[in-house]
Amino acid sequence: MYENLFSSKKIGTMTVPNRTVMTAMGNYLADEGGFVSDKDIAFYGARAKGGTGLVITECTVVDSKTGLGNDREIVVDDDKYIPGLKKLADEIHKYGSKLCVQIYHPGRQGIAVVNGVESMKSASATECQIVHQPTHEMTKEEIKDMVNKFAQAARRVKEAGADAVELHGAHGYLIGQFSSPYTNRRTDEYGGSFENRMRFFDEIIDAVRAEVGADFPIIARFSVDEHMEYAGQPEAGLHLADGVEIGKHLEAKGVDALDVSSGIYETMNTAWEPVGFDQGWKIEGPASVKAAVKIPVIGVAVIRDPEYAEELLKAEKLDFVGSARAFYADPEWSNKAKNGNACDIRKCISCLYCMESLMSANAERPMGCSVNFEAGKENQYQAEQLPKNGEGRTVAVIGAGPAGLEAARILAIRGFKPVVFEKQNRLGGQVYLASKPPKKERTAWLIDYEKGQLEKLGVEIRLGVEASVEDIKALNPYAVFVATGSNPVMPRSIKGLDGANVHTPVEILDGTVKLSGKKVCVVGSGMTGIETAELLSEQGNEVSVFEMADDIGPGLFFQNLIDVMSRIAPHNVAMYPKHRLVEISGNNVSFETTDTKETANFEFDEVVVSLGVAANKAANEQFAEAFDNVRFLGDALSTGRIEAAVRTGYLAAAEL
Ligand SMILES: Cc1cc2nc3c(=O)[nH]c(=O)nc-3n(C[C@H](O)[C@H](O)[C@H](O)COP(=O)(O)OP(=O)(O)OC[C@H]3O[C@@H](n4cnc5c(N)ncnc54)[C@H](O)[C@@H]3O)c2cc1C
Ligand SMILES: Cc1cc2nc3c(=O)[nH]c(=O)nc-3n(C[C@H](O)[C@H](O)[C@H](O)COP(=O)(O)O)c2cc1C
Repeated sequence: MYENLFSSKKIGTMTVPNRTVMTAMGNYLADEGGFVSDKDIAFYGARAKGGTGLVITECTVVDSKTGLGNDREIVVDDDKYIPGLKKLADEIHKYGSKLCVQIYHPGRQGIAVVNGVESMKSASATECQIVHQPTHEMTKEEIKDMVNKFAQAARRVKEAGADAVELHGAHGYLIGQFSSPYTNRRTDEYGGSFENRMRFFDEIIDAVRAEVGADFPIIARFSVDEHMEYAGQPEAGLHLADGVEIGKHLEAKGVDALDVSSGIYETMNTAWEPVGFDQGWKIEGPASVKAAVKIPVIGVAVIRDPEYAEELLKAEKLDFVGSARAFYADPEWSNKAKNGNACDIRKCISCLYCMESLMSANAERPMGCSVNFEAGKENQYQAEQLPKNGEGRTVAVIGAGPAGLEAARILAIRGFKPVVFEKQNRLGGQVYLASKPPKKERTAWLIDYEKGQLEKLGVEIRLGVEASVEDIKALNPYAVFVATGSNPVMPRSIKGLDGANVHTPVEILDGTVKLSGKKVCVVGSGMTGIETAELLSEQGNEVSVFEMADDIGPGLFFQNLIDVMSRIAPHNVAMYPKHRLVEISGNNVSFETTDTKETANFEFDEVVVSLGVAANKAANEQFAEAFDNVRFLGDALSTGRIEAAVRTGYLAAAEL
């Protein structure tokens, strides 16, 4: 099984035990000052223990005075960082995996205030359209100094006992800023022609090689296509043919492997993709490079299934299968595949909570994963290391959404006897609904995973049973977990919500109400509202979306908003921000404009009201009153998203 995936292969002098590569992923785990932390050791160690062939660290900082991405990134600009990296290398080697350290400078994509500088370094003074930082064109002295900083960082990586170093020339960071004509407008020998734009990368490779010697593997990461069509400038930047030339050029410069990615900040959705991008959508990029070079090629393309990974290797599209998020969501991805347990893999659902939480991370609110609560917390939580002291005690779990299912899984691992009640005839709660809009099928992978695990753990699930206090009393449970979730809000203050043509998103998504060829008004532009509007458009309705806030999609992570809006655009959905719903009367839907306070009336056949969700407090209270040991989880505790449901489910079970 997966013969190619689990065969070894060399990168230069390094033999990687299999073809799985965890590509670099910022994790916000370093200790203050940029030292490798115990959290890092546990995090990367878990991926090595899980059988990942090559573990590449997050981007580490070659110059902490001008090139920090955030305040919890590993730094490599001083020899004092070598012992921490050595500890990390030793941990990875314990499991037979290899460690590669990625080194980088963010250039124009970094934040000036984080670095205490007035402007960020770049090839030219071209401000990034995402982070909007002042940027200056590097002088030749600055270039020379930076080349040396990369070389010294690589020396430290080698001295620490890592197996390889990766030069981060992808995703529009400093090296890429020189390679790309979009960001490099120089007129000296570092700009203009292809050779000139590659000069900075070349000098770094030469300087690194001089420091690490001929035998130490150097991997070069680059964006084969900057996909500027996603930024409305299809002609700009690097295209696939340019990327293939870069690959050939880097091979000729003597790097040992190429790690092929795509995109820059302006086209971020093509670098770490939201749910709208299918598995394999950009495989042509690395595959085209592989066809043009002899050195090994690592490629990423939202690869999630071992079967697909094996197919890519067999078809010689890649030499190594790369992913960051697949291994973030499940550190044991490789071993599960290798041992014939691919069905046990907890697959990344591409919700981008990782990136969203990384961008806003701080000491109190770390980065995290929706489906894997343990990600980044492996030194504190690993399910198999939790106390196994359940002693068969019964725990009633009311509700089989992600919170209830995750709690039941952890309870069973700990030796409790969870009994899950679910009033519907299916598992998943709102996640079932979340998987219904176009492109969201993947969301249901979480439910498939939980279902499979609960079956293996022999957990009793009573489907189609709306748990009452009496039902629970009959179990004489040690504890009661209330994971009853939430339901759509229908505010009483709005008149006419009981009309026959007024529906909830739930009714549309679960198919209870089927609309086609209608003029439909969706009120509320949170993710549920917009995705429901998208589904209704696909079903052949003429859809308009109304939103009280100043902008459509308030509070949504911008990458997800861009993704869904790009899919909805061809349907010509009319968007009305600043419109507060006042009344529905038959076909007349009445709004108040929030800025001018005018009444605006529209005619629609049908109305879908998506104004958020709320827990059923009264129903939940009865359990709190009837039992002593009661915990609330997920939306029943506080309405949120999958991450909160899984987190509170896990923690309630871990801490019982
Ligand atoms: C359309 C839609 C799209 C969404 N998309 C996303 C997304 O992309 N990303 C994201 O992070 N979040 C998303 N969410 C939110 C996410 O699905 C919820 O936050 C999450 O499902 C809450 O989990 P939960 O387990 O607390 O509750 P629920 O998922 O609501 O599950 C509760 C379960 O309890 C059952 N139940 C209630 N009372 C009883 C009873 N007395 N006896 C037995 N069973 C009972 C219900 O039938 C239900 O199955 C979406 C939600 C919706 C509606
Ligand atoms: C939260 C997050 C952080 C990332 N950090 C880095 C990084 O430090 N360096 C890098 O080269 N790529 C980084 N990436 C990109 C990944 O290595 C990978 O190319 C991308 O996630 C697409 O592949 P995947 O969906 O299989 O993970 C990051 C991606 C995410 C989601």
